[in-house]
Amino acid sequence: MSLYQGPPVIVTGNAHPELANRVVEMLRVKLGEVTVGRFPDNEIKVKFGENIRGRDVFIVQPTHSFGPIGSESIIELLIMLDAARRASAGRVTAVTPYFGYARQDRKDEPRVAISAKLMVNWIVVSGADRFLAIDLHSGQIQGFTDQPFDHIYARPALIDHLRARGIVDPTYAATDLGASKYVRSWAKRHGTRKPVLMDKRRIDDWNVEITQIYGDVADQDIILVDDEIETGVTMVAAAQAVLERGARSVRAVATHGKFIDGTVDRLLSVPFTEIVVTDTLPHPVLPLKFTEISVANLLAGVIRDIHNEESVSRHFD
Ligand code: R5P
Repeated sequence: MSLYQGPPVIVTGNAHPELANRVVEMLRVKLGEVTVGRFPDNEIKVKFGENIRGRDVFIVQPTHSFGPIGSESIIELLIMLDAARRASAGRVTAVTPYFGYARQDRKDEPRVAISAKLMVNWIVVSGADRFLAIDLHSGQIQGFTDQPFDHIYARPALIDHLRARGIVDPTYAATDLGASKYVRSWAKRHGTRKPVLMDKRRIDDWNVEITQIYGDVADQDIILVDDEIETGVTMVAAAQAVLERGARSVRAVATHGKFIDGTVDRLLSVPFTEIVVTDTLPHPVLPLKFTEISVANLLAGVIRDIHNEESVSRHFD
């Protein structure tokens, strides 16, 4: 039972309205009324178009930095949070299907920022009572705040899709050693053989080298998994490495497809059987080799359970 008045209010800015629309469709509610516009000098202005006093408000906005509004996705989210709090919402949840600026998450060398902590601070001071995010770059980001933080996974939906492809006994592979626990959980859930691990050396943002592969890939159907694809160089290098060692086929699977300029063509330069991502981020029309699995159902189920004060883990355990 919900502690708040009426059904949940789902609102969104200009970062990825298609996803929010898919979520409200699943929840059978209408999208909440909010205008996220611009002043003449391009400053963002936000106004709720309906009374949200005492309501349970969910602001769905991935905080990515590419595409038409760039990093303004973040400022839009912060100002929507502020507007919701000042309109006396009963509770406000920041729903970031993709949580950006997460890669700098610790001070691992001198004079670097911890942008992930800064993002969390901004979201909290702007008025978020709770967080909901899918496949964070690193789980410890949940600990950067004392607010409740639901960190959910797209993995079950992606594995269901891969199972439906009917691949017999595929071999999962992680593109770097740090992801060994992550890839084991994929193989275990799929009920397939032990995964393969790779040692990746990132030379710079645009070049990576696979220096070592631990495990057999010859005559195997390889499924490369990662949390995100950005330039695509990691997936391309990993695919080339397994194909050179005799893999029968190779697929790339990632939750977040950050298809910046050139990524799609780069991925098409390698004979992937399929490239699978979710719709946590907006995408252009993608070539046939690409499959987009929607997380709308997952988000809708979790939002419904948060609203009703129920456990959410059954959606992704
Ligand atoms: C790295 O830590 C991430 O998990 C991904 O491997 C990386 O962000 C992929 O980037 P790109 O597609 O640019 O190689």
